[in-house]
Amino acid sequence: MGRREIGLVSSTLLLPATAFLAVTALISDALDLNEFVFHKYTGYAATLLVLVHVCAHWPSLVAFWTGRTRHRAGTETATSQAGPETAPSWRHGVSRRAVLAAAGFGATGFAAGWLVRPSDVGRLPGEDFGALYHRASSPGFADALGALVGWGVQPARTKDYPGAARIVLPPVAAPPELSVAGAIERRRSLRDYADRPLATAELSWLLGAATGITGPGGLRAAPSAGAQYPIETYVVASRVEGIEPGIYHYAPADHALERVRSGTFGGDLVIAGLGQEFLAQAPVVLVLAAIFQRLRWRYRERAYRYALLEAGHIGQNVYLAAEAAGLGACAVGAFFDDALNRLLDLDGAEEAALMLVPVGPR
Ligand SMILES: Cc1cc2nc3c(=O)[nH]c(=O)nc-3n(C[C@H](O)[C@H](O)[C@H](O)COP(=O)(O)O)c2cc1C
Repeated sequence: MGRREIGLVSSTLLLPATAFLAVTALISDALDLNEFVFHKYTGYAATLLVLVHVCAHWPSLVAFWTGRTRHRAGTETATSQAGPETAPSWRHGVSRRAVLAAAGFGATGFAAGWLVRPSDVGRLPGEDFGALYHRASSPGFADALGALVGWGVQPARTKDYPGAARIVLPPVAAPPELSVAGAIERRRSLRDYADRPLATAELSWLLGAATGITGPGGLRAAPSAGAQYPIETYVVASRVEGIEPGIYHYAPADHALERVRSGTFGGDLVIAGLGQEFLAQAPVVLVLAAIFQRLRWRYRERAYRYALLEAGHIGQNVYLAAEAAGLGACAVGAFFDDALNRLLDLDGAEEAALMLVPVGPR
């Protein structure tokens, strides 16, 4: 293959490569993908093609910039008038340029077909809804392109209860040192609590470890996809020193509690929690709920996966924070959704409870 053919091939391949580069750049921006491999490797390929292209056209480039270009237009006019043997190649059949272009587009189509994996959302025989959801939320490349289309608007990243009574918690203070290794090793689910109320400082520590703000720009204690923070923390307080029994919403920005309703709700928790009695014995029960649109506008079908994963991260933070403070926690996933959502005044669709975490002294 001569210099001219190499130049043509590189020109042809540069077209899909740069188009792919632009599309993958948009996807990585839309989905907040760091180190997006398709974009990275297309970038390398496009760079290589540019180098080949420049090498192949080097004499023309030098001639152009040194002013020694030939007037090709005039030459072509002259040759086309010379007779049928110099007529344009398309009259005789397919030109070499067309073959190379077709090969380039064919290769691009093959690569695209290999990358695109459309998800079939029909339910397979014997498939449960979890498996169906998992499959339907496993994007192919085509779905990633669809991510460029928004799914509704981005809601506020914090929830407010205007007019609610507020209790500002004491600053988060770490309890006497316990290594992460020690907390992980000693952690056990605790369902039997010592008979003393929780101190406000202990509640402050637990909430700070759950969804508390720990970094600039509102970054929090637990990781969150795209820093969208879909999880809201509610506190069902039965016996916390200095805090009237009731249901509260935790406002991370002010490290404060906003009262949702007053009263003792241990019995309601037991009913909602399928009769698990320790829910009424714990001095405090944290409820993690998700506002799905905070993830959905960006991650579409994968939003629900991320909400569950994030609740898990926060739950483990609470477990380890409790352990470090001489307390114990227990994740509770078995509950009647409607009863629990009603108790917290959540609609169960836009925002729904995902997990209960009772905490109490050992
Ligand atoms: C997602 C999830 C849901 C759970 N739901 C309940 C529950 O409804 N009731 C309960 O008593 N324990 C529940 N647990 C706690 C497990 O029973 C406990 O983690 C397990 O027995 C292992 O014991 P360990 O945590 O002490 O290591 C749950 C744990 C997880 C992770």
